[in-house]
Amino acid sequence: MQKKIAIFASGNGSNFQALADACVKGYINAEISLCVCDHPGAYVTERARRLGIKVIELRPKSFPSKEDYEKTILKELEKEKIDFICLAGYMRIVGKTLLDSFRNKIVNIHPSLLPAFPGIDGIGQAMAYGVKVYGVTIHYVDETLDGGSIIAQAAIPYEGSDREVLEKMVHAREHALYIETVKKLMETV
Ligand code: GRF
Repeated sequence: MQKKIAIFASGNGSNFQALADACVKGYINAEISLCVCDHPGAYVTERARRLGIKVIELRPKSFPSKEDYEKTILKELEKEKIDFICLAGYMRIVGKTLLDSFRNKIVNIHPSLLPAFPGIDGIGQAMAYGVKVYGVTIHYVDETLDGGSIIAQAAIPYEGSDREVLEKMVHAREHALYIETVKKLMETV
């Protein structure tokens, strides 16, 4: 049976768009049923609405605790009968409430070859370090920062110093790798 995916995002949502388009085209055998956004008004919410995908926008700070915030999300996930979660630029560590309910069913994409350069601005960190091979990682999500077991990686050789050029290369690689990886995951979950 076709699986239902929720995508969690905080910003632009280009990875959201790539996954959603691949589902609409039938390339990934799944439906993106929900967009969860912790930054009300972020561009990803517009992308979702344009595709007719349900959006929930939450302000984490308006909840008494992380647990309350995640319990609210969990209710929505249950209501929509979500099977799987893809984080796509979701700038928040997932807590116990969601992890316990979706153990090994949450994946994330990170713009570096983990375990190198976890956390914020993986591309900037790698550039400042002076690496010559950049990359992208897709991994399962656990309670650590970008630390869950690795599912897929792609290397991007680049010796230049133009951040804009590099970002374009990384994002293009991210979209392709996320689509291929989620496609495979949907065949096995
Ligand atoms: C991507 O680089 C992703 O790897 C990182 O956040 C960025 C999100 O970009 N986790 P977008 O919002 O999908 O365009």
